[in-house]
Amino acid sequence: MRLTRVAGTGHFLPERVVTNQDLAALMDTSDEWIQERSGIRERRFVDQGVTCSNIGTAAAKVAIAEAGWEPSDIQFIVFATLSPDMYFPGNGVLLQRELELPGVGALDVRNQCTGFVYGLAVADGLVRMGLYNRILLVGAEVQSAGLSMDTAGRDTAVLFGDGAGAVCLEATDDSDRSHIIWHHLHADGRHAEQLCIRHPGSAVKPWLTKDMIDEGTIFPYMNGREVFRHAVKCFPQVIEEALERQGLTNDQVDMVIPHQANQRITEAVRKRLGLPERKVASNIERVGNTTAASIPIALSELVKAGTITRGNLICLAAFGSGFTWGANLLRY
Ligand SMILES: CC(C)(COP(=O)(O)OP(=O)(O)OC[C@H]1O[C@@H](n2cnc3c(N)ncnc32)[C@H](O)[C@@H]1OP(=O)(O)O)[C@@H](O)C(=O)NCCC(=O)NCCS
Repeated sequence: MRLTRVAGTGHFLPERVVTNQDLAALMDTSDEWIQERSGIRERRFVDQGVTCSNIGTAAAKVAIAEAGWEPSDIQFIVFATLSPDMYFPGNGVLLQRELELPGVGALDVRNQCTGFVYGLAVADGLVRMGLYNRILLVGAEVQSAGLSMDTAGRDTAVLFGDGAGAVCLEATDDSDRSHIIWHHLHADGRHAEQLCIRHPGSAVKPWLTKDMIDEGTIFPYMNGREVFRHAVKCFPQVIEEALERQGLTNDQVDMVIPHQANQRITEAVRKRLGLPERKVASNIERVGNTTAASIPIALSELVKAGTITRGNLICLAAFGSGFTWGANLLRY
């Protein structure tokens, strides 16, 4: 049976560390408030001139080296981000250009925090159907360009960070060894406006005005309590759905890697699933919420630390804007 395996992982974090104290100098907030509500101590921001496709490419190069591939081995690219370099074209073609792969197909995924989980399902499907043998999947964000760094934007500005992660996916016919098992994807568009950037968007003509800038609708809007309420319900539901469908139980999972939305959400999910701390990945304290990049960054860090090893049963899960949520099960 034709399946897909993760051949290599990579991540890239910008050098510049931005602490909670740094943010408190820009807006009415405090280290204590941020840590207590989100578990975040610091995040990374890129310097001016460094783009989301640049850091996505940097993460991809690490994954390509770990897989033992050359860039020319890549047959298709999937790029998940909510912070592309330009409104269009998407970052897939920009990364393809940076890797010097003219002609290789590139797909952009717009599923925000769930982007990597959706992207993995799509890439796995393309490999399983025999269209490609080797796909590069990247999740990357430069959130720092699109946050309101003042008191008006403090509820979201303190949560998000920049970073990139990537995986190299290749075909395998050995279902006893490393392979992606299955995916569960959900969405509920009734909540689309609960976490969004409203403008620019083609619902209004022209799609960008001075009023929109003055009123701050070009920055993220988040109904934090609604996001929290749904996240703590949907995360455990979709993880248990994935495990049950495969006839697996919570205690058989070696590692759950939840999208790093907020440490309080991760803790609530961990408790609901009855898992020990060592089996639920958390790096939000150091990197903040990096949206589509958070799962591949955590996965790559855990592989490099030797915490995740070949044969481990891994569950990736995400919840975010849309609302969208989902889970992937894989044998690493
Ligand atoms: C955002 C979140 C941390 C806020 O926590 P909360 O306990 O719900 O806090 P509230 O929204 O009730 O705000 C409490 C107060 O803190 C204030 N506040 C908001 N952001 C602040 C900040 N960065 N610093 C200090 N005070 C802040 C609010 O203005 C509010 O003040 P008020 O009571 O005078 O109106 C929480 O709702 C949450 O974790 N939501 C999920 C967010 C998330 O994961 N998003 C990513 C999705 S992928």
